[in-house]
Amino acid sequence: LEYKTDENLTNINISQLTAKISTDIKSYLNPQSEQLRDIIHYSFSASGKMIRPQMILLTAATINYHLSLGNLSNEKLIKSEMIHTASLMHDDLIDCSDVRRGMLSCHKNFGPENAILGGDYILLCASQMLAKIGNCEVVSVISELINDLIKGEIMQLTSCENINGKLSHYYKKTYRKTASLIANCCKAVILLTNSNCPSESAVDAAFEFGRNIGMTFQLVDDILDVTASAEQLGKPSCGADMKLGLATGPVLFASEKFPEIYDIISRKLSKEGDLEKVLDYINRSNGVEQTRAVARAYHDNALNILKSITDSPCRKMLENLSEEIFNRTK
Ligand code: FPP
Ligand code: MG
Ligand code: MG
Repeated sequence: LEYKTDENLTNINISQLTAKISTDIKSYLNPQSEQLRDIIHYSFSASGKMIRPQMILLTAATINYHLSLGNLSNEKLIKSEMIHTASLMHDDLIDCSDVRRGMLSCHKNFGPENAILGGDYILLCASQMLAKIGNCEVVSVISELINDLIKGEIMQLTSCENINGKLSHYYKKTYRKTASLIANCCKAVILLTNSNCPSESAVDAAFEFGRNIGMTFQLVDDILDVTASAEQLGKPSCGADMKLGLATGPVLFASEKFPEIYDIISRKLSKEGDLEKVLDYINRSNGVEQTRAVARAYHDNALNILKSITDSPCRKMLENLSEEIFNRTK
């Protein structure tokens, strides 16, 4: 697999590239069992936003341009989308979520056993591809992010008592469940494209950029959970997190003014009128605006990191993608 840019790393056709990544992933995932193949291909049939592969490829291209490195030929970045999709197959089961990418979620369509095994199989294929690359440092970076995904999900199942503690628990969980994958994949791709002599500052910049944009992504996701419709998102919305008993940014900020919001979230909005009540508390406390301000700070950090890197068409595309993540409505 090759995802080539032109000689000067300036010309990347993103829509062609993401379509190719989706097709390539399916051709990689070819188990003998027809049943397993159906399950796995179903999970990639409606492609998601492909933000992770785009972000990782453009980060590599931007930093390589900065380091005046040669052409980028990279078979390595598609693992990010595979690990992400595998984790979503398990996540939908954990969250009892029936819809994903505008279709029935995998467990809803094929049953929970198949969703677990299908997700495991995709993870296995990603691990085999990683083994073939044969770079121990990168294996350790990818293991770290899978560890974070699991720890993040476990943190989400627990809560802590005082409000300050809750916010720092929330940011840590957000890093682990979302930002770590983007940050560590950005780091991995720089380690791979510079494998002879990786520049420490370039690796750090890639990681920090990915971390900040990953935090932005999840904070915006948490805002959309209380503001967007299910049609917009292609997944359950308007209070889906709160119905699971989860307090994310908008609720945590609202709770500083209206601590009674916790009782409603603890009972998973089970009484009639609960959703309206919570949305009213969030509205009256500017919970969404406060969460957006934090997202904006992460987004600004990400853009400042980019500004310290040599300007190039790839950098411009990365800036545009970052803006899209911050302003997205789905
Ligand atoms: C989506 O969050 C879920 C994740 C970002 C991570 C899920 C991780 C696991 C299930 C553990 C690791 C599993 C594997 C196979 C590596 P969300 O529920 O807030 O988002 P959503 O609204 O899109 O469902
Ligand atoms: Mg979920
Ligand atoms: Mg979840």
